[in-house]
Amino acid sequence: MERVAQMNALPGRKGILLAGGSGTRLYPLTKASSKHLLPVYDKPLIYYSLTTLMLAGIRDILVITTPEDALQFRNLLGDGGQWGIRLCYAIQPRPEGLAQAFTIGRDFIADSAVTLALGDNIIFGSGLRERLDRAAARGDGATIFGYRVNDPGRYGVVTFDGNGRAVTVEEKPADPKSNFAVIGLYFFDNRVVDVAARVTPSGRGELEITDVIADYLGRGALHVEQFGRGFAWIDAGTHDDLIEGGAYVQALEKRQGLKIACPEEVAYTLGFIDAQQVLDLARPLRNSGYGAYLERLVQDG
Ligand code: TTP
Repeated sequence: MERVAQMNALPGRKGILLAGGSGTRLYPLTKASSKHLLPVYDKPLIYYSLTTLMLAGIRDILVITTPEDALQFRNLLGDGGQWGIRLCYAIQPRPEGLAQAFTIGRDFIADSAVTLALGDNIIFGSGLRERLDRAAARGDGATIFGYRVNDPGRYGVVTFDGNGRAVTVEEKPADPKSNFAVIGLYFFDNRVVDVAARVTPSGRGELEITDVIADYLGRGALHVEQFGRGFAWIDAGTHDDLIEGGAYVQALEKRQGLKIACPEEVAYTLGFIDAQQVLDLARPLRNSGYGAYLERLVQDG
């Protein structure tokens, strides 16, 4: 990736990394640890969604965790200064739904546009940055992404008309009307704060992100982009997802000698940190090979 110093996100666009939840589908793995800290090959799961936000040019990020896991997240990610970003933290006391991110984050968001990334999603593919830049630069409305899956009933599902325009968005439908799942990355304008505040709990007792999206759809303010077959999207909610995600990352990284979702590399590439900062970050990581990778990055320019 060529190094660039400019940022294309709307100035002041903020990010929320949602990493609460109960992770019951991963029990007993997640009884005493957050799913987001589990390994996906050579790095914790949370690195993947964090770097997705960074790739969108977003440098001011609120990390929302459970009360039990908050300290571990701080130990892992710190204040973000090492990667040229700002991380702050908030607690979601109970897993009451994704849309709650915007009420918990209300003061943090203030009058900015905001992008929500689910901490258990992995998104990867050539041209991702351009797609993210486009969404981040959009001043009004919301942008979500559809991805074709075999088992849409596990996700939010979006249907399209003959012109590719979104018609409906439904949460985990028993009888899905399309194969397009909504991935866990949502770009909103500032109105989302008020929209989310009006959402009421669904039948399963959660404040649903699909209700927020449906509000934008109803006002003609929703953009839906599709990720084609050149992209990988893994929602690491189950044991198989975690293993498949790890195998995918391992295969690509070993084949190419390039890492996926390495925050140090993304920060360096985007000009958030300089070569000396990368070398300083590399030193304590030398024993794992991760550090040698960072040193090579700087040597190769
Ligand atoms: P889910 O996978 O829907 O829920 P979960 O993580 O609680 O897991 P399980 O279904 O196995 O019990 O959550 C998607 C992502 O959103 C995940 O990264 C956790 C996060 N999340 C929150 O932070 N708060 C919430 O209230 C919910 C529902 C999820």
